[in-house]
This record gives sequence, C-alpha cells and structure tokens, in this order.
Amino acid sequence: MSIEQAYNIWANQYDTNENRTRDLDKKCTIETLSKYKFSNVLELGCGTGKNTEWLLAHAQQIIGLDFSEEMLNKAKEKIVDSKVTFKKANLTQNWGVDNNFVDLITCSLTLEHIENLDYIFNQAYLKLKKEGLFFISELHPFKQYSGSKARYETEAGTKELEVYIHHVSEYIDEAKKNGLQLLELKEWFDVGAEHGLPRLISFVFKK
Ligand SMILES: C[S@@+](CC[C@H](N)C(=O)[O-])C[C@H]1O[C@@H](n2cnc3c(N)ncnc32)[C@H](O)[C@@H]1O
Repeated sequence: MSIEQAYNIWANQYDTNENRTRDLDKKCTIETLSKYKFSNVLELGCGTGKNTEWLLAHAQQIIGLDFSEEMLNKAKEKIVDSKVTFKKANLTQNWGVDNNFVDLITCSLTLEHIENLDYIFNQAYLKLKKEGLFFISELHPFKQYSGSKARYETEAGTKELEVYIHHVSEYIDEAKKNGLQLLELKEWFDVGAEHGLPRLISFVFKK
C-alpha cells in the first residue's frame, strides 16, 4: 500500500487515536513558533490541520499542502476560513506555490516519508522570502534507529508505513547546501522519560 493510501485510511482516526508523537509535535510547534512573527505560512504535509488551527491565530494567510485527499478532507471539515487554503500536492513534485512568497514554512512529521530531502530544502529556499523561516519537527532519528515509525492500528492488525531514516547531519547538511542557516535545534522528550531517547527533533532554519 502506498503512503498516500495508508494516510487516506488513517485519516478517520488520526485526530482521535492515542498518538504521543502527534501530541508532542503540537506542543513542540506551539512552543517553538510562539517566539517568532510570521504572516504568510506554507504548511508541508498539513494532514488533518492539527497545527493549522494554532497557526491560523498568528498568520494572515496559510497554504496547507498534502497528497492525502482524506487527510485534507478532515482539515477542510475542521477549518473553514478565508485565510486558509488546503491543496492536494505531492511534496516530491511541483508544489504549485509562487517563489519568494512565504515568511514561514512548517513541516511536521512528514519528512520521514520522503526519501530525497534535497528537493524539499531546495524548494523551501525558493518559496521563502528573504529571512523567512523553515520549521521542521520530526520523529527523532534515534527513535528511528530503535525501530519507531509511523503506524496505526486496524482491525487486521498494525499498519506500518513506508519510512526513510534521516540522520541529524543530513538535515544540517541539506539546509546548508541550500542556503539556509540553522537558528535552533531542539530535542523533545515524553514527560517522565527525559533520560531516555528523545521522541522528536525540531529545527528552525532561516533563509
Ligand atoms: C504524520 S502526518 C502529519 C500531519 C500533520 N503535519 C501533523 O503534524 O499532524 C504526515 C502527513 O504527511 C503527508 N505526506 C507524506 N508524504 C507526502 C508527500 N510526498 N507529499 C505530500 N504529503 C505527504 C501525509 O499524507 C500525512 O498527512
């Protein structure tokens, strides 16, 4: 089953099933981005709009891209606002967004499904205005090394999605290669597990 098909099925329970990664990402997104000002936002892999809701209160315009029709349908049901446009797009192909258009790009829990980060960083650079920010929050590679990956339960058992491991150095190198400067790198832990493996890693890069 393709990643897109798997998310089309997951969409029905994505917002409601137990998911510590999803919940920690929300906290990470809010805590990190509360420090910055932004107006035009591009959300890569916006899914059901979990983070769009918070971004909406702080932005003038948001474009959310995702290739899963069903995840997008959930987002469109939840968020009806003239400031927000949800569009179907495969991030490994043309994003259909103007260059030098946004001052913030966010990408949460999506890059583990994308093999070639170079294209993503290259496009992010092009779409950002000068001094624009690229925020990434992902399953920490340490977690990936230990076998963690995007998965959900179905009546037929656990469905594991196709994922790619990205080392910390890969994010840093790709950003540098594509003209983006690292402002922040942070690791996020489950409550009570601060001495174990970090669940998430987040970056803020600046054009
Ligand atoms: C784990 S969900 C995260 C959704 C949302 N960002 C959040 O934090 O709740 C990953 C999302 O990435 C999308 N996705 C994965 N690969 C993609 C690709 N190549 N192009 C567009 N969307 C993609 C999936 O459809 C899914 O909605």
